[in-house]
Amino acid sequence: MEVIILRDREEIGDRVAQAVQELVNRKPDAVLGLATGSSPLPTYDALASRYRDGLVDFSRVRAFALDEYVGLPSDHPESYREVIRREFTSKVNVLPENVHTPDGMATDIPAACAAYEEAMTAAGGVDFQILGVGTTGHIGFNEPTSSLASRTRIKTLTEQTRRDNARFFESIDQVPHHVITQGLGTIMDARHVTLIATGANKAEAVHNMIEGPVAAMCPASILQMHPHATIMLDQAAASALQLADYYRHTYDNKPEWQGL
Ligand code: F6R
Repeated sequence: MEVIILRDREEIGDRVAQAVQELVNRKPDAVLGLATGSSPLPTYDALASRYRDGLVDFSRVRAFALDEYVGLPSDHPESYREVIRREFTSKVNVLPENVHTPDGMATDIPAACAAYEEAMTAAGGVDFQILGVGTTGHIGFNEPTSSLASRTRIKTLTEQTRRDNARFFESIDQVPHHVITQGLGTIMDARHVTLIATGANKAEAVHNMIEGPVAAMCPASILQMHPHATIMLDQAAASALQLADYYRHTYDNKPEWQGL
């Protein structure tokens, strides 16, 4: 696990966008794993700007969302299919048919989850997974006590996560209780995962994820077992880390050739 502490969300977004650009230039049909929520927005903005500047071409890129609300039609403004389209894919030249989200309106949810896993496998697996972390320590919507080996399935959101996400809706009553999410085992199959966390409200989850035990009570801690996990933090999200000085020293002295 590499921990990188940068100045602010814009610097993080630019650094992650640079890594995505390098990947897509090296592998034009790369498979991206996309998170929604606030954390990746500066990255998506930076990627859109790099696309406009002609630095990266997404025409062969495939993309898979991490999760989707159950029961929100795909044209609902807060469905993750729509959020990803609005915040990212509509601003670059990813083909709409290459962007996949779990089907939150499926009548047979287990079959939709199995189909999603199959589609990811058929695409060759995720090359670069962008993640955020919830205040509960979730990644995707794998809430505390999720199986560390789980695959794509339906989950029930904690009340804390519903409260956290109420800012995107008119009231908490409109936040769905259920979601389809890639499992922790699914996320762990990605070849490179990059988790972005900013703000003081993430500091405790970030500490538990990086410096706590690997435990289902903090699902993000499974990333300690990932061979290539990059954790990108701003100063506030890093404020509860015991070894923050060590992470800063390591990054300051990182050999240039290593990249992200
Ligand atoms: C979103 C997702 C969630 C969010 C997390 C943090 O697709 O899977 O795990 O990344 O809830 O959300 P923000 O970034 O809004 O704080």
